[in-house]
Amino acid sequence: MSDAVWIDGEVVEASEARVPVFDHGLLYGDGVFEGIRVHGGRVFRLDDHLERLRASAAGIGLEPGHDRAALRDVVLRTVRASGYDDAYVRLLVTRGDGPLGVDPTRCTHPRVICIVARLEIFDPERRRRGLDLITSSVRRDPAGAVDPRLKTLNYLGSVLAKREAVLAGADDALLLNPSGAVAEASVGNVFAFVDGRLCTPPATDGALGGITRDTLIEAAGALGIPVREASLGRVDLLRAQEAFMSGTGAGVVGIRSLDGVQISLERPVCEKLGRAYAERVACEGVPVR
Ligand SMILES: Cc1ncc(COP(=O)(O)O)c(C=O)c1O
Repeated sequence: MSDAVWIDGEVVEASEARVPVFDHGLLYGDGVFEGIRVHGGRVFRLDDHLERLRASAAGIGLEPGHDRAALRDVVLRTVRASGYDDAYVRLLVTRGDGPLGVDPTRCTHPRVICIVARLEIFDPERRRRGLDLITSSVRRDPAGAVDPRLKTLNYLGSVLAKREAVLAGADDALLLNPSGAVAEASVGNVFAFVDGRLCTPPATDGALGGITRDTLIEAAGALGIPVREASLGRVDLLRAQEAFMSGTGAGVVGIRSLDGVQISLERPVCEKLGRAYAERVACEGVPVR
């Protein structure tokens, strides 16, 4: 078992995988990606990830050059090559190689890359105690810039927010949108249980339409927990009974504090939904073999 990478039509050892320096994904962040999980030999919500990839690509005028069936095959073949039953899959489509200069129309062959590796964003101890977040000075872009609903290779906002958090001794960052409403965390959606209701910001507030978020909204409905999309201010998180974040990489993880102010130490709603999520990923998904 080892990390595996699909690039330019073949699976190679992770240490052998190379991207040419003229790839516009590297030069300009010109491309899109997905983070996908394999649990117990099943790829969770693969078609939903492929649909979001298609939508992100369409949003930047990128034609991946592979249809959905071909991309599905790339993911499954790379996971099989890794030998992992539990893994993180990073599927990217870059604009491909082209001359220097931002003009994407001069890149004629998009590049598909699929990385299968292990990923642990937060260690078990942090997950158990809950995360300490700071409010980042970096704002999520407005839809009129690079729309945050597109999962593009432009992650500098998240990178800088995370850097700020880590340098401040926190675990992660909360990003607000230009109007000051809560958008999301660096690589996860945010939920708050306020006034007996679970709320998560709408994608139009600057959040990615998270697949984990979507799964949790469904789970909350099935468990009879009132849930709705609603704009949240930072103050709503501070007065919430509990808060947590969700993402394919991060999973479902409680938020203990924001900017040094404790939110809650007990998180029964988060735990219930975390269990429901774990049960669902354990039995659902596209079998790798
Ligand atoms: C910026 C951002 N928001 C939210 C999420 C959560 O989305 P998903 O649950 O589909 O992984 C991610 C991805 O992990 C992300 O990168």
